[in-house]
Parts: sequence; C-alpha cells; structure tokens
Amino acid sequence: MIKKGIILAGGMGTRMSPLTIAVNKQLLPLYDKPLIYYPLSVLMLAGIKKFLIIVNKGQLNQFRKILPEKNNLGLSIEYKEQQKPGGLPQAFTIGEKFIGKDSVSLILGDNFFYGQSLTKILKKNVHLSSGAKIFVHPVKNPNLYGVATLNQKKKVIKLVEKPKKTRSNYAVTGLYFFDNKVVELTKKLKPSKRGELEIIDLLNLYKRKNRLKAEFIGRGGSWLDAGNISDFYNASNFISAIENRQGLKVACLEEIALNNNWINKNQINQAINFYGKCDYSKYLKSLIA
Ligand code: G1P
Repeated sequence: MIKKGIILAGGMGTRMSPLTIAVNKQLLPLYDKPLIYYPLSVLMLAGIKKFLIIVNKGQLNQFRKILPEKNNLGLSIEYKEQQKPGGLPQAFTIGEKFIGKDSVSLILGDNFFYGQSLTKILKKNVHLSSGAKIFVHPVKNPNLYGVATLNQKKKVIKLVEKPKKTRSNYAVTGLYFFDNKVVELTKKLKPSKRGELEIIDLLNLYKRKNRLKAEFIGRGGSWLDAGNISDFYNASNFISAIENRQGLKVACLEEIALNNNWINKNQINQAINFYGKCDYSKYLKSLIA
C-alpha cells in the first residue's frame, strides 16, 4: 500500500519564460488555482496524506505560503530543495529519508489528470507492494514524451524517452508508483546524453526484471501536461469549461480532504480565513452549508 507521495516541483520552467523567471511554474494559475493543486489533488484522491514536495533552491518560501507544513488539509507536508536539476529520478535520492522503508508515488508538478474513473484507477493501484506501475494515455504527439509499446496482453514491451519514430501512441504520464527498491535502483543509474538521470532508464530496470506494469487512463479520462504556454492555457480553458458548467471545482484540496474525513468544518472555516473573500472561499462555504 502506498502512503507517501513525492511531488517534483523543481525545474527551471524555461519553456515558459518570462512567466517563470520570478515565480515557479507550479505556482502559476491554472485557471483558478495554483498549478500544484492539481497533481496534489490526484495523490490525495488516491488516499495519500504524506507528502514531500521538492522545489528549486531558493523557492521554498514561495511554496510554504500556499501549502504550509502546518496546513488545513490534514496533510503532512515536508519540503526539500533540489540544488541542481538532475532528472526526475533524483526525487528518490533527495527523498531517500522521506521514503524510508516504504513504497512511494511520484507525480510531476505540471501534470493534470481528470476523469470519472480516475479515483477508481488510483485506489486500485495504490495497493502496490512490489514492482512499479506506470499510467499510460494516448496522445497525438508521442515523440514529446516517454512512450510505452504494449503487446496484446497489455504488457509493456518497450519504453523509450521521446522517440523520433514510434508506432505506439501511448505516452507515459508523469504519475508513477514504485516499491521501496526504487532508491537502490536510482543509485545505479548513469546520466543520459543530456546529462540527467532518466525516469525511462529507471523504469527499464524494473521492466527487465518483469516488475513493471502499465495501467490505462482510458479515453474517457484526460491527461494534460502544462509544459508550455499553449498547453497551459488549453488546460486552463478545460478547467474553466468544466467548473463553470457544473458549478463544482476541480482539484479543490479542502473538498477532497473533507470527503476523505481528514478534516472537518473547523478546518474549512480556517481555510476560508486563509484565502479571504474570493470565489474559492465561497465554494468552501457551500461545502459546509
Ligand atoms: C518527463 C518524462 C517523460 C514523461 C513526461 C510526462 O518529460 O521524462 O517520460 O512522459 O515527463 O509529463 P519532460 O516533461 O521532463 O520532458
């Protein structure tokens, strides 16, 4: 059972400059909330309460303001700074102490997931005790992502990072579940040509031992990554369309915590004070009315 989550919120965000010069990408607004609310909400929906958020050197205070260690969400939140971006698997060496003897999930701070079956998929897979699990989703432009080739039995037969040519349209999304071996295996990795540790190399170590499984986020679900400005605004528009139609919020952290019975009316009221007079607070009020 996975009870811990790492959110990787480092990176220079150079593709989104000048927006990201003064502010970390994960704190920019994705419609009506900071981007980091969305990946955090995904792991909360999986039932995870213990978090390590990895941020860039010097950006800790920006994050603490919006997601303090002492929060109204019933979560345990720790922070660690990444001295120099060195690839996604670095999360497991930076997080070695946090992980301890447990299995762990990793989500990239700019990944957005949505869909009716999402919670069901998460709850099913969070029981992992050995091996690793990736979540794949079809995309039009697989060459921008890690790509998984699956056989007819849905077994992963090939994993390549940003292939120039591929027949598979299944991107490996930025959500991963790992057993405790992940720390030891990360230490075996060597930097790739671009000088970073690669998540695909780590997954391939699991695959070689027949310990890698894939789960589909089917076409009824959505996966967007806010990697560049146009993706960012597309994701914003998507959320705006859903929220304004339904009058319900996507990734309202307090709502998820309340539904999970991690907090009660008191914390919702504290959250309303924290946010001040705004639509988000109005929504929180409606939850306890
Ligand atoms: C990273 C991973 C890639 C994965 C993607 C998901 O790519 O290396 O395998 O498909 O995240 O968002 P990056 O966004 O760092 O280029």
